[in-house]
Amino acid sequence: MSDNQLSFQVSNLDFFYGSFQALIDININIKSRSVTALIGPSGCGKSTFLRCLNRMNDTIPGVRVEGEILLDGEDIYAPDVDLTDLRKRVGMVFQKPNPFSKSIFDNVAFGPKVQGIVNGKRNLEELVKNSLINAALWDDVKDSLDEDALGLSLGQQQRLCIARVLAVEPEVILMDEPASALDPIDTGKIEELIATLKEDYTIVIVTHNMQQAARVSEETGLFWLGELVEFSPTETMFTVPAKKLTEDYITGRMG
Ligand SMILES: Nc1ncnc2c1ncn2[C@@H]1O[C@H](COP(=O)(O)OP(=O)(O)OP(=O)(O)O)[C@@H](O)[C@H]1O
Ligand SMILES: [Mg+2]
Repeated sequence: MSDNQLSFQVSNLDFFYGSFQALIDININIKSRSVTALIGPSGCGKSTFLRCLNRMNDTIPGVRVEGEILLDGEDIYAPDVDLTDLRKRVGMVFQKPNPFSKSIFDNVAFGPKVQGIVNGKRNLEELVKNSLINAALWDDVKDSLDEDALGLSLGQQQRLCIARVLAVEPEVILMDEPASALDPIDTGKIEELIATLKEDYTIVIVTHNMQQAARVSEETGLFWLGELVEFSPTETMFTVPAKKLTEDYITGRMG
């Protein structure tokens, strides 16, 4: 896969909750094996947009999507798309860690078991171990795999949720404010992890923390009242933004 390859190509995307239009004519290309950050004030549509990328909004009654989203060149809203397969390819990590009240091992093994990814106990153990290693959690939990995941610290729980996503071998990881409930040390660990994961995965992260967007991402999009106001290389966005609105927002004069 070349570095410049696109993961998502979003064209003229409109999104409605009933009669309320939450996304207006969004056009954005998201690069493979790169981190794209989405910023913007509360209620501007960041989470809605993220959920369009793996069709999680489909579960909400009364919603409507118009426009096109291609993943690796294929329309994810085409009628024959298998949603289970799509959500395996496009995993999601939420603001609040949401492990199951099961053992650490079973949390990570759950997805591969349901998806039938593994054959045999040995392979499952390998997959769980590798997922925990890649989520920077293995050293913390290697002696307590049978303990309840809810006994982990919040930061560890969030890395467990990342391990759970990695275990089903996705292409893309969507992260909706993954560190906003965490302390600075755990936030730092998540940011380090993102820097490693982008070598193998496409990452789209929503964050309210502009320093975080600047640290972790290659490209940044600013949403404003349902529109994508500016989408630029992160360095450009935070030094010489194209729009006055972007400058006002990132310097704290608005939002
Ligand atoms: N399930 C829903 N039903 C109706 N309206 C919704 C629903 N979810 C979100 N909205 C509305 O859509 C708009 C965009 O919401 P969204 O959650 O995408 O914003 P956001 O940028 O993620 O905000 P925040 O930074 O607070 O998380 C808001 O006006 C919100 O009230
Ligand atoms: Mg949100």
